Amino acid sequence: MKEKILVTGGTGYIGSHTTVELQNAGYEVVIIDNLSNSNRGVLDGIEAITGQRPTFVEGDCTDLDTLSRLFAENPGIKGIINFAASKAVGESVQKPLLYYRNNLNTLTNLLELMPSNGVKGIVFSSSCTVYGEPDRNPIDETAPIKPATSPYGNTKQISEEIIQDYVRSGAPIKSIILRYFNPIGAHPSALIGELPVGVPQNLVPYLTQTAAGIRKELTVFGDDYDTPDGSCIRDYIDVVDLARAHVTAMRRMLENDDTDAVEIFNLGTGRGLSVLELIASFERATGVKVPYRIGDRREGDIVKIWADPRLANEVLGWKAEADIDDTMRHAWAWQCRLSE
Ligand code: UD1
Repeated sequence: MKEKILVTGGTGYIGSHTTVELQNAGYEVVIIDNLSNSNRGVLDGIEAITGQRPTFVEGDCTDLDTLSRLFAENPGIKGIINFAASKAVGESVQKPLLYYRNNLNTLTNLLELMPSNGVKGIVFSSSCTVYGEPDRNPIDETAPIKPATSPYGNTKQISEEIIQDYVRSGAPIKSIILRYFNPIGAHPSALIGELPVGVPQNLVPYLTQTAAGIRKELTVFGDDYDTPDGSCIRDYIDVVDLARAHVTAMRRMLENDDTDAVEIFNLGTGRGLSVLELIASFERATGVKVPYRIGDRREGDIVKIWADPRLANEVLGWKAEADIDDTMRHAWAWQCRLSE
């Protein structure tokens, strides 16, 4: 029998790609999503790719009764991957309570319901944002956590602590915390990808919308940083590579009895790319020019951060494999599909 996994936020960007990889790996997926940042059409994309339609529950994970009912109606869930969260840094500064409520109540509800429903493990989406501006790169999991610079970042730090405290209290669960670097790209089929709402704040959606003529020009936020070309450096990781890591993490929790109850892994490529290098990769991969100008620095930006992913490579047996130009091609194919 297929093992059942609950994917919260499963119609969202990373959730939908992870659902595809879980189904391809032989898991049965139940999705809960409140569709606040996605739509039901994503389920068609998942079905077209995998030939299977995940069970879908429209609902809000901040509501304990909704989740209790979900577990009662879908018995046998063995693991949870929690993507249900708000994720816009700027918005979190404007609406901190929304972020604390959504992100923290969702997590505490899920944790509370795990033992009584026989759920063994939860994979939690954290972020490299917990490291702040690193003292050195690449950065590994032992690096100090820096004070959060936004309510969004703070929810990630607090969530990691909530999980640790709960496990320490003797709760019979396991957790793998994954610290993502910068997820980009789309499924190679162009059937699922990131859905834009309003003006994109993140680099790649803004770049592809500019290339598509939806935005006039891309602004590079600063070229006078202490980096080789002056623009900021990030570790851009393909969303399908990222999704695969969740399957590996889930398998590790469910199948190995001798692993630590809480484990933390960086998910990155180990390679830093500047904003200008990313634009060059896009143009090289697609043959499409991106009109851009150099603008002011963006307040609060980290100058440079990239991952030391060796722990995930060695312990999870997972490695980022995608070539950056392929990733940019997939991001572009998805943008073209959206613009059809
Ligand atoms: C931010 C958050 C991170 C979050 C991630 C995904 C911070 C410090 N980090 O990452 O926690 O997980 O978003 O939501 O807030 N850039 C431009 N022009 C643009 C847009 C971006 O030059 O129009 C540059 C930025 O200056 C940065 C890079 O592109 O150097 C990546 O920016 P972005 O995609 O917004 O991600 P982060 O800021 O790294």
